[in-house]
Amino acid sequence: MRRTRQSLLYLFLVWIIFVLVNGCSGATTIGEAPSEEVCSAIVDTKCVKCHYKTRICDALGTKSVSKWKKTIKFMKKQGAQLTDDEQNKVIACLSSLPKGSNVVCQ
Ligand code: HEC
Repeated sequence: MRRTRQSLLYLFLVWIIFVLVNGCSGATTIGEAPSEEVCSAIVDTKCVKCHYKTRICDALGTKSVSKWKKTIKFMKKQGAQLTDDEQNKVIACLSSLPKGSNVVCQ
């Protein structure tokens, strides 16, 4: 009986540490960048209503994940229609694409 209580406590502690670590490092919540098809599909459908892709192309390779987060939040304030999932995906895309990438620059 004592042993089970101890291991439950241990599991609880591990869970707390896991939650804290995940909550504090913004980058890990974004996840892996999706495929180029997914990236260009989001950009082509969601990002060209208000400005040309050249705006986005110019910014490639100049922003960290957290800077892109801020940019995309700003775009949503302007009226960009993105679900939370699309938002995370496009941030992962744009922060990982190299400068001049065809995904955004064509
Ligand atoms: C509802 C309109 C709208 C939509 C949709 C939109 N944007 Fe923007 N975007 C703006 C406005 C307004 C600016 C500011 C223009 C300026 O500064 O002259 C801007 C500027 C930018 C810039 C240059 C400024 C910077 O912070 O680097 C980037 C990059 C950008 N947008 C990326 C995107 C991406 C990526 C998407 C798609 C997820 C998107 N935008 C969708 C309105 C929009």
